[in-house]
Amino acid sequence: MAKAAPAAVKKEIENLREKLRHHEYQYYVLDEPEISDAAYDRMMNRLRELEAAYPELVTPDSPTVRVGGAPRDGFSTVRHARPMLSLDNAFSYDALREWDRRVREGSGQQKIEYIAEHKFDGLSISLQYEDGALARGVTRGDGTTGEDVTPNVKTIRSIPLRVDAATLKKIKLRADFEVRGEVMMTRKAFEALNRQQEQIGGKIFVNPRNSAAGAVRVLDPAITAARRLDFFAYYLLVDGKVPFAKHSESLQALKQLRFRASDDWKLCVGIEAVIAYCEEWDAKREKLPYEIDGVVIKVNSIPIQNELGYTSKAPRWAIAYKYPARQETTVVNDIIVQVGRTGTLTPVAVLEPVQVGGVTVSRSTLHNMDEIERLGLQIGDTVLIERAGEVIPHVLKVVKEGKHRKPFKMPKHCPECGSAIHHVEGEVAYRCVNAACPAKRKESLLHFAGRHAMNIDGLGEKIVDQLVDKGLVKDVADLYSLKLEDLASLERMAEKSAQNLLDEIEASKKNSLARLIYALGIQFVGERTAQLLAEHFSSLEELAAAKEEQLIEVPEVGPKVAASIAEFFSEPANLKLIKKLNKASVHPTAEKRKVKSDKFAGKSFVFTGGLANRSREEAGEIVQQHGGKVSGSVSKKTDYVVVGTDPGSKYDKAKELGVAILTEQEFEKLLGLK
Ligand code: IVH
Repeated sequence: MAKAAPAAVKKEIENLREKLRHHEYQYYVLDEPEISDAAYDRMMNRLRELEAAYPELVTPDSPTVRVGGAPRDGFSTVRHARPMLSLDNAFSYDALREWDRRVREGSGQQKIEYIAEHKFDGLSISLQYEDGALARGVTRGDGTTGEDVTPNVKTIRSIPLRVDAATLKKIKLRADFEVRGEVMMTRKAFEALNRQQEQIGGKIFVNPRNSAAGAVRVLDPAITAARRLDFFAYYLLVDGKVPFAKHSESLQALKQLRFRASDDWKLCVGIEAVIAYCEEWDAKREKLPYEIDGVVIKVNSIPIQNELGYTSKAPRWAIAYKYPARQETTVVNDIIVQVGRTGTLTPVAVLEPVQVGGVTVSRSTLHNMDEIERLGLQIGDTVLIERAGEVIPHVLKVVKEGKHRKPFKMPKHCPECGSAIHHVEGEVAYRCVNAACPAKRKESLLHFAGRHAMNIDGLGEKIVDQLVDKGLVKDVADLYSLKLEDLASLERMAEKSAQNLLDEIEASKKNSLARLIYALGIQFVGERTAQLLAEHFSSLEELAAAKEEQLIEVPEVGPKVAASIAEFFSEPANLKLIKKLNKASVHPTAEKRKVKSDKFAGKSFVFTGGLANRSREEAGEIVQQHGGKVSGSVSKKTDYVVVGTDPGSKYDKAKELGVAILTEQEFEKLLGLK
């Protein structure tokens, strides 16, 4: 039986929740974080630890429960308290003037007070709060009933799981209310998602709207969480009615309740002021961090709204002005490849130049080979392209096949440096792995100098740009032959800073083998793998000579990582680079780890889930300092599985195999720390 929670614990939990709520608001709604991510994580871990010890104190609105739900079999449906109608559209300013005339006639008023707002291009969602806490999130569905997507919307950090009771009182709002708004994805999150999909060969999303909608309507909330969605609120209801006299008061109340609501709405008296607003934002909308596809105009007075009422499909008191679509058809004259900063080859369509929404477009990204196949695209075809925001436009579909169409093939050699292109059967990416390829030069140098790599302080982007552009540095080894006058010749570089940088470069020669391996930027070789490789091989030369079979013997190195390492060292340009580094006296040999005891000699540990007092890496380091081994997967040979919060499948595997399971506290006891 668990002990009853002491009052002090309850108080600490309440305190932590309040603080976490505050910091989530600062970070996800206001974009103004006040503390570091690490400090936030520490608070969250502490709360998780307390909730694990006193499960009876877990509440559904605790910040710990955002992610946690397991995938489900299907959605249940929920009936909306008041139908979620769509809006009538206006495609011209004259159509807006016509609508205004109907509103004036219907209301008997001469001049109408309107609220003009952004029309967010996402997926509409209804959030139902009960007693101040989020109870349900429902999609629009057919307008009358929607799908219950509560576990998914809970992962969206700009959605409050609980609202402040004092604020509710201040604005005289009942604690049971409904908020409607739009789930969206910022352009940045969307581009990052597609970049990731490009690499892994996943589905490429056409626009942020589609990826946001897809992410809400999945059965596994972990997928929603990974998509980094946002929520913009625009409508507030109590018992299916607007609880204020004006719509503008709803927008203000939503902000006070700490929902993310746009600040860009405007009170416009008369339709001409509305049209000016539409024009203003048509010019500015590309600069917004998210996409809008129009302007929604609502009558501000709720009594007038009620007087006007609804048609069977939409309210008469609101309309959506839609911006013209930024789509156009054109011919694909050629397909070329670009080498990205990490060596991935991206096919790009060279288009017959065409005007799309006032901008001439002559290139369009095709992402990867799979996407070209999915589109069925060949050179000479006529395609429909879309330009959204400032991102480079992309091809939506082939509208007409070219008469003399020609299929596209990935080149066998890198268009930048001529070295052979690598492609693993079954994987999407085609890559140039030459570490000294000019396309990758700047990125490779920055990675090499990074804090976790060779840690060359002062070698930032501005300096790297100049070193490469002036031809002073062609590969990372060239850094070691730089002279004081080379560095002093750079812009904004005083002699003293030049000397400091030179000293930093010199000092980096003393770095460990692990750092050097990591610094080379081999695909899939992160800091930890580099550390394990450095423990296995005594020098870079020995690592370079290792066959895939030998590489797989290194703990945590699987076939994919082994293949990538072997591939890297099979490239003659990279072997030359190692020789060059060696000549420049950059040839660390493996340092031996400080051994503190042999307490864990012959014992093998696996860690899973989040630990409260240290990272998993730190815990692994401790095990090794005491002679033990750390493995990434559980097998019959595993001696202990240390389980933190939210453990993964390794925990289940341990139970299944009957391996000893330790909590972090028990692990500390075993170590003699407690
Ligand atoms: S108000 C009854 N305001 O556009 C009024 N809707 O085309 C409810 N939308 O179904 C809608 N931005 O999904 C409203 N600022 C905004 C909006 C907005 C986007 C969506 C919403 C609606 C659709 C109609």
